[in-house]
Amino acid sequence: MRYVVTGAAGFIGSHLAEALRTRGDDLVAVDCFTDYYDQSEKEENARGLDVLRLDLAEDDLDLAGVDGVFHLAGQPGVRSFGETFPLYLRRNVLATQRVFQSAADAGVRVAFASSSSIYGEAERYPTPEDTTPHPISPYGITKLACEQLANAYASGFGLDAVGLRYFTVYGPRQRPDMFFRRVCDLLLTGGTFEIYGTGEQSRSFTEVADVVDATIAAMERAPAGAVYNVGGGEEASMLDAIAILERASGRRLGVRHVDPARGDVRRTKADVSRIRAAIGWEPHVSLADGLARMWAWASARVATP
Ligand code: NAD
Ligand code: UGA
Repeated sequence: MRYVVTGAAGFIGSHLAEALRTRGDDLVAVDCFTDYYDQSEKEENARGLDVLRLDLAEDDLDLAGVDGVFHLAGQPGVRSFGETFPLYLRRNVLATQRVFQSAADAGVRVAFASSSSIYGEAERYPTPEDTTPHPISPYGITKLACEQLANAYASGFGLDAVGLRYFTVYGPRQRPDMFFRRVCDLLLTGGTFEIYGTGEQSRSFTEVADVVDATIAAMERAPAGAVYNVGGGEEASMLDAIAILERASGRRLGVRHVDPARGDVRRTKADVSRIRAAIGWEPHVSLADGLARMWAWASARVATP
């Protein structure tokens, strides 16, 4: 099959691209290498991939001969109030609207990255997909807008789209602004980690290999218009998670508590019964195994820069 992967130089997109290539699929990798974090990390993620440098918010995407688009390009990060908001609008809402229009015109399926952040402080835990969304971050609002755009393009132009609500993804190549990555880097280099708030907030952490499996399965088997939670089986607080990484690394982390961050939810816990019933996916990687793999990657990276 011939697939487009947008955001292919990013954390999750680079793993997805690698998995598709390993299966023997034909790949069109797209990314514009935004400067949200060090572009050399994106070069490192994309090593071995031939990346087409398109900015999806303004450049056209040619979908002739393509069987499906994995749309992962976007501006991530829930701490998204203030001056950065125009970037969220451009890279999430505008870029996605243009991808949906191109895919609808070409009659090509899109599997796109949505987010647990659309739920905000959810009404129920574990949280099923039909929970009323109440995003509390500008980022979450743009991801919800993308889901609504998918619905509008489905009814207006017959778009075939599947939305995947990823829950806090971790693993090798995790973005440097994210929790586990910061913890690993500080365990390696020394220094004090700043926990936002008490550290008792918790997440349904999801290992990137599980996310890749869910995303490919959704492209291949999900009914048009489906939306699924893609979340890890294990919930952990930040304090629990630090303790697991300290055990994996054999090191101690210096910690300082700072003010809670605006836009951060207290808890996420995915109900994955819908995706399990529809396409047979469920998470397999335990937090202990996933963090051991992430620590091995982070420490090898520092040893051989
Ligand atoms: P990332 O920043 O590592 O990857 C996103 C990539 O998209 C980047 O390489 C960036 O250069 C590219 N990009 C941004 N705007 C673009 C544009 N206009 N044109 C072309 N390329 C563009 O982020 P990630 O953590 O890999 O996240 C991937 C997707 O999954 C994002 O849509 C994000 O919102 C979503 N998501 C991530 C998580 C998570 O925990 N990492 C959780 C939920 C949802
Ligand atoms: C993550 C991604 O960054 C978002 O792009 C994504 O959309 C979201 O998951 C999702 O699941 O939808 P988040 O859960 O905030 O967002 O992930 P982390 O950045 O890894 O943060 C996890 C927790 O650690 C948060 O509660 C945050 O407050 C805390 N944290 C993070 C700190 O205490 N200190 C830090 O330096 C970084």
